[in-house]
Amino acid sequence: MAIHKILVTGANGQLGWELAQAAASFPAFEFVFVDRNSMDLSKPNEFIGIIELFKPDAIINTAAYTAVDKAESEKELATTINAKAVAELARISKQKGIPFITYSTDYVFNGNATSPYLTDTTLEPVNFYGETKAEGEQLALAENPATIVIRTSWVFSSHGNNFVKTMMRLMKDRDSLNIVGDQRGRPTYARDLALATIKMIEFINEGKDIKGIYHYANTGETTWFGFAEKIKALAGLECDLSPITSDQFPTPAKRPAYSVLDTQKIEKDLAIQIPTWESALKACIEQLSNN
Ligand SMILES: NC(=O)c1ccc[n+]([C@@H]2O[C@H](COP(=O)([O-])OP(=O)(O)OC[C@H]3O[C@@H](n4cnc5c(N)ncnc54)[C@H](OP(=O)(O)O)[C@@H]3O)[C@@H](O)[C@H]2O)c1
Repeated sequence: MAIHKILVTGANGQLGWELAQAAASFPAFEFVFVDRNSMDLSKPNEFIGIIELFKPDAIINTAAYTAVDKAESEKELATTINAKAVAELARISKQKGIPFITYSTDYVFNGNATSPYLTDTTLEPVNFYGETKAEGEQLALAENPATIVIRTSWVFSSHGNNFVKTMMRLMKDRDSLNIVGDQRGRPTYARDLALATIKMIEFINEGKDIKGIYHYANTGETTWFGFAEKIKALAGLECDLSPITSDQFPTPAKRPAYSVLDTQKIEKDLAIQIPTWESALKACIEQLSNN
């Protein structure tokens, strides 16, 4: 059955919002966006009723408990949203025979690698958020082996809360900032990830065999300090930036030192060329200045 109606959770998040912006360019699809008021991910037993009401041909789950530090103290809620809810969505998708796409994180890896993580690298999260996302992946794939999990990293957008917007605000307010310079990763523009997700749905409609774990992030890699320097340059801001170590910036949740994702599988299977993080950042900052 061809996919026409797509249910998207997390309407107000970065990725949910970018999917809503992109939706207008894909009139072949009818997108139904739900936020926490119409579909609360902390109440998995309500999902079946909501899904039977909308009758989607596919489900995209962008909603998640994304407060990495707070997850260390709100363990039960984080587990329900990031693991139990994802498992229930996978179960219902299997029962209904519809594709299910959900997202995970670079924080499922231990951070000790020195080359990019492959989709089948062993999971070893260093914080509780990463544990809940790893559990969500595993439960969903056990419930429904056709589940599509897209791991992504360091997500930014002109909408919502993210490093780019926080840095721009702080750089306007302060003369100097210290930024962590010993964590490496791949920034990801939620708009690019939204477009790749829609491409995935188009490929499924064409009968291509898309399932299991994928990685998506903009190409290239940097540190938070390098990311901040580029934000400063592209936004034309004045502020002295200094790199510090993770030890000098203690947080409740530990972060992996190296969390670079290898994205070759998604590039090959979707026949896409992923934009560099610098060009994606430029597009996002232009979008912010148009707002
Ligand atoms: N942000 C990152 O840097 C990052 C990195 C790696 C992976 N990811 C993953 O990528 C995916 C998309 O993330 P994102 O950046 O778009 O996250 P986001 O901007 O933090 O948005 C998450 C959304 O989930 C919603 N949500 C939270 N609890 C909910 C609940 N109980 N019921 C319904 N909705 C709820 C939030 O609703 P409200 O707006 O009402 O709060 C928010 O709209 C997630 O799976 C995330 O784990 C993100």
